[in-house]
Amino acid sequence: MRLAIISDIHGNWDAFQAVLKNMDRAGVDAVVCLGDNIGYGPEPNEVIAALQQRNIPSVLGNHELAFLQPERLAWFNPTARQSLSLTFERLSEGSRSYISRMEAVLVDHGCRFVHGFPPDSVTTYYFELAEEATCKTFDTYAETYCFIGHSHDLVLLACRQGRLENRPLTEGLLELEPGNRHIVNAGSVGQPRDGDNRAKYLIWDSTGSVLEVRYVAYDIAAVARKIIDAGLPEIHAKRLW
Ligand SMILES: [Fe+2]
Repeated sequence: MRLAIISDIHGNWDAFQAVLKNMDRAGVDAVVCLGDNIGYGPEPNEVIAALQQRNIPSVLGNHELAFLQPERLAWFNPTARQSLSLTFERLSEGSRSYISRMEAVLVDHGCRFVHGFPPDSVTTYYFELAEEATCKTFDTYAETYCFIGHSHDLVLLACRQGRLENRPLTEGLLELEPGNRHIVNAGSVGQPRDGDNRAKYLIWDSTGSVLEVRYVAYDIAAVARKIIDAGLPEIHAKRLW
């Protein structure tokens, strides 16, 4: 079973299209999205339409949560708040209805999927918890693998004899010890923050317990132009580089 995991597309339709093409060539059996499909980027409606067309399930991200509960906009920094307010105005009826149906947690393919942190937080960052609290989190759910987004980092978390292992992930294949429990932070398709400007996504091959991190180049200049032309904050165009 080859499962693709995508996260934090953030309205970056060009990056998402490049990832979909890459994924089609790689060959996967299923795809799951970890949320934050909107915000920062210029084409949230196109991203949501593609998720729907391809029947890719997505859990709720904190950017979608802010659409459902506008009082949460106060949580964002001023430019993110400005970007989200403009994005919300431009969401189609179809996108609005799609977001209203999103759930915080998905359990499928023997794995747990949540935007922030297990068992079910949309807003908690993995690095906010102390080592001991992170290790105790593994007792709160049953699945061997939990995939998270939110920080836009690529990180593998495991707990061994009460000690937390925190391992950054980079491009390529990594064999995981079968049965050993992990939380995997899947990086970001549309707003990378890991020092490499390519889109990132994962392929989890459950047959061989192999995790693959894929980096995908796309036309960043085109997206940066669209962000500026749409009147969205310029900082989110610059950040793509
Ligand atoms: Fe995000």
